[in-house]
Amino acid sequence: MNLLSTRRLVSLIASVCLTAMSGPGAAAAQTPASLEPAGWDANVRLAEPADHNPDPHVLEIDLTARVADVEVAPNTRVKAWTYDGGLPGPFIRAKVGDRLIVHFTNNLPEPSTVHWHGIRLPIEMDGVPGISQPAVKPGETFVYDFVLRDAGLFWYHPHHMSAAQVGFGLYGALLVEDPNDGVGIADQVTMVLSDIGFDKNGALDPPDSGGSAGDVFGREGEHVLLNGHKAPVLRVRSGAPQRWRIVNTARSRFFLLDLQGQKFTVIGTDGGLQERPTTSEVLLITPGERVDVIVAPTGAPGSEMPVYSMLYNRGYGSVEFRSIEQVLTLAFSTDPAMTPPPPPSVSRTIVPPSAAGATRVDFTFTLPAMDSAGHSEFQVNGFPYPKAKPYRAALGETQLWVIKNDTKWDHPFHLHGYFFMPVDEQGQPLRPMAWKDTINIPMNTTARVLVTFDERAGTWMFHCHILDHAEIGLMGTVHVGPSAPAEHTHSN
Ligand code: C2O
Ligand code: CU
Repeated sequence: MNLLSTRRLVSLIASVCLTAMSGPGAAAAQTPASLEPAGWDANVRLAEPADHNPDPHVLEIDLTARVADVEVAPNTRVKAWTYDGGLPGPFIRAKVGDRLIVHFTNNLPEPSTVHWHGIRLPIEMDGVPGISQPAVKPGETFVYDFVLRDAGLFWYHPHHMSAAQVGFGLYGALLVEDPNDGVGIADQVTMVLSDIGFDKNGALDPPDSGGSAGDVFGREGEHVLLNGHKAPVLRVRSGAPQRWRIVNTARSRFFLLDLQGQKFTVIGTDGGLQERPTTSEVLLITPGERVDVIVAPTGAPGSEMPVYSMLYNRGYGSVEFRSIEQVLTLAFSTDPAMTPPPPPSVSRTIVPPSAAGATRVDFTFTLPAMDSAGHSEFQVNGFPYPKAKPYRAALGETQLWVIKNDTKWDHPFHLHGYFFMPVDEQGQPLRPMAWKDTINIPMNTTARVLVTFDERAGTWMFHCHILDHAEIGLMGTVHVGPSAPAEHTHSN
């Protein structure tokens, strides 16, 4: 029962019964057949955890953080920090509405926690040490228990010394599926993009390598990984549509994927499906972000096509001395090429928050000159975290956050526990509408987002997901509570 968990077996049996009862026509509409060669995704398949709970709507797992020797390429091994010994950690997969219970044990030499990036959960489950729970010390256990309210690809990672611990290998994907999402593509891969730095002996790079410059540039490991492997091979039939669910879990690196001019059809982002699909030739995925795309790569049967991450200028240090990286190899099978079908026209009705009556809150990011000791810090409205007081929001209040990046680096901005909606200068949603929890704010630009806080009171973090930036101050909190004090813009 390791590879095929009980619940998957149960659902497999259920779908077989359904097929038997409803006839081939009805079954075909529900479960489209795979168009790919057998074993096509064997090199990138993620390990799934065992489910200890007999209830089909409850996924109950153990998750242990520990140091493990991991092979990322032939004869290339690293002593990584892992969940359950794997890089990435186990692929947690559930259905929307399910309850997830995780018995987390910390067997690392340092304290840790698990933060569930993008999940709308109660504050007690948010995994921020000193704010939502005590840090889980070596040898200790903490139980996370919450309901998965939204379909989408999410992920998990520590929130204690995040830059170091994520950089060392602690991250995993959490896919919440909606069986009725209407996408109708059988061949799906979840891709965890990351990087890791280590020496010839497999010893991890020190987390503070490069000193203050490393903090400001954002550290990138030289080994770029897709599901824990360097440029793994995906065997595909030319023209067959596939659904790729992608998350960037890197500590600082941006990914700019390129299919050599072939198109990506984007159907969703952080908070599930977007209003309608869009197409693009490149796909920018900044740290913390997710995308849900349909691709139908074509090539001569028997040939190979590398998929690259191109250079993207997110500020000084991100393109200088850096190179294009191959993240994946598509190996076309010898099956005759298919004509790619038109991408599915999946749509979603999204009701945006209203800008009318929203409370405006301004944030400005700056990077003052380094101090006399040679340290740099990022500031939010003049304060580096944790020197600023919390911002405030009332239960049920809608706020318009106007976030000005007055620095020469991009910052992927992330808010815990809530989705927000990017809007224009008039407060109108950017189209197509999409729910986001992480949004890139390019250097010297301003982003505007609307967020409605609900009944989930608590102190919620926001920060840059270039985790090196978060560590040197680009972080803050919003305290969501019963009453709205009149001091939003003057909380410091
Ligand atoms: Cu991925 Cu504080 O977050
Ligand atoms: Cu940043």
